[in-house]
Amino acid sequence: MVRTDSIHGMWSSRLMFILAASGSAVGLGNIWRFPYVAGENGGGAFVLVYLGCIFLIGIPIMASEILLGRAGRQSPINTMRSVAIASGASSRWQIIGWMGAFAGFMILSFYAVIAGWVLSYVILLGSGVFVGADADLANDTFSGFIGNPWSVVGWFTGFMVLTVFITARGVGKGLETTVKYLMPTLFALLIILMIYAAVTSGHFIEGVVFLFSFELEKLTWDSVLIAMGQAFFTLSLGMGAIMAYGAYMPKSASIIGTATTIALMDTGVALMSGLVIFPLVFANGLESSAGPGLMFVTLPLAFGQMASGQFFGCVFFILVAFAAITSAISLVEPAVAWIVERLKTTRVVAALLVGTLVWLLGLGSAFSTNVLSDFYIVGEMTFLDTIDYVTNNIVLPLGGIFIALFAGWVLDSKILDEEMKRDLFYFPAWRFLTRFMAPVAVAIVFVMTILQN
Ligand code: TRP
Repeated sequence: MVRTDSIHGMWSSRLMFILAASGSAVGLGNIWRFPYVAGENGGGAFVLVYLGCIFLIGIPIMASEILLGRAGRQSPINTMRSVAIASGASSRWQIIGWMGAFAGFMILSFYAVIAGWVLSYVILLGSGVFVGADADLANDTFSGFIGNPWSVVGWFTGFMVLTVFITARGVGKGLETTVKYLMPTLFALLIILMIYAAVTSGHFIEGVVFLFSFELEKLTWDSVLIAMGQAFFTLSLGMGAIMAYGAYMPKSASIIGTATTIALMDTGVALMSGLVIFPLVFANGLESSAGPGLMFVTLPLAFGQMASGQFFGCVFFILVAFAAITSAISLVEPAVAWIVERLKTTRVVAALLVGTLVWLLGLGSAFSTNVLSDFYIVGEMTFLDTIDYVTNNIVLPLGGIFIALFAGWVLDSKILDEEMKRDLFYFPAWRFLTRFMAPVAVAIVFVMTILQN
């Protein structure tokens, strides 16, 4: 049962695992989604709940996913199956893997559409159309772009081709090479931009106050659910992405320490993105609650009014594109690894298959801002909004509960001891949070949200 490597390949070191997993974690969720949901939900109090969820629910579940992945060394579906059987439990626990692979399809289908918007903004910013632009021009440019089905589908397709290409090249040559260069660049760019925003906007403190002043009366159970969903989404938890990456992790690395490092980096990037975006928002008298368009309208506008904004704006969107691609490859990894195992085929075939299915589903999201913009699934939510809401706020937390319950209560203690022997100091805390805190907290948030609506 105890395997030391995976048929799919291995990360060459603990550091490479950290880069890959933080590459998965750091993405549109940090730079595009975190600022706008924090803005929509009033800032400070939302951020506090979000941070609580990261540390009390996110880190223990991330450690659980890494642990299970490393114990099973296969795709999440087969990992869950074999680890469950080895623990004397029902092989039905593999349902966690199935739900996860499915969730990966759904998430990537809208994620890649937004990533396509980002790619087109690299070109737009670089071309200088926003230099000296006013709010009307920035708004019109954005709605003009997302309103054009051809350009949205074109950029979305381009992003999917890139994702399939990197995935097909494999764990070492594809995934590891990509994260090795892109992640350090991304961190460096973000720090430069934060200094830039702090120095040039003159509203840095206002941004800080918005993100960190905890006015608890602003909080509803709905925003608590969204904060929790955001915590799962931003850490890539609840669907087996981290489990798949854990399968390629060397035995010698500690698990809880590594999970904490990744979560801290991810949180750092989210907060830094907020500290880039909100000072620019306030400096230009823009709306913090503008929604998904926040990054695409307010930032180009802000950059357009600042010295060297054409250059820095273009750089910023390149950074976002980097972050998106290193996340996208983790969303397909569970399904790709499973297809390779199951159909005994190559990664090229598996990646093409998954990519095509995601692309087909993603057309629904690509059309959500144009031809299908009046087509609502529930309430006022388009296809894109619905998939985003359901996966983040329901499917991921639900997957997380099952993962925590399995790792906390079902997993065989010999496997547990073997994997956790480098984490003895934090083990009791992990165990408590995984057994009780994470499942109970998620359940309470679910129940309260339902009761309140
Ligand atoms: N965490 C990524 C982000 O913040 C998105 C992502 C990648 C993801 N893999 C995932 C989300 C798995 C949920 C599950 O952009």
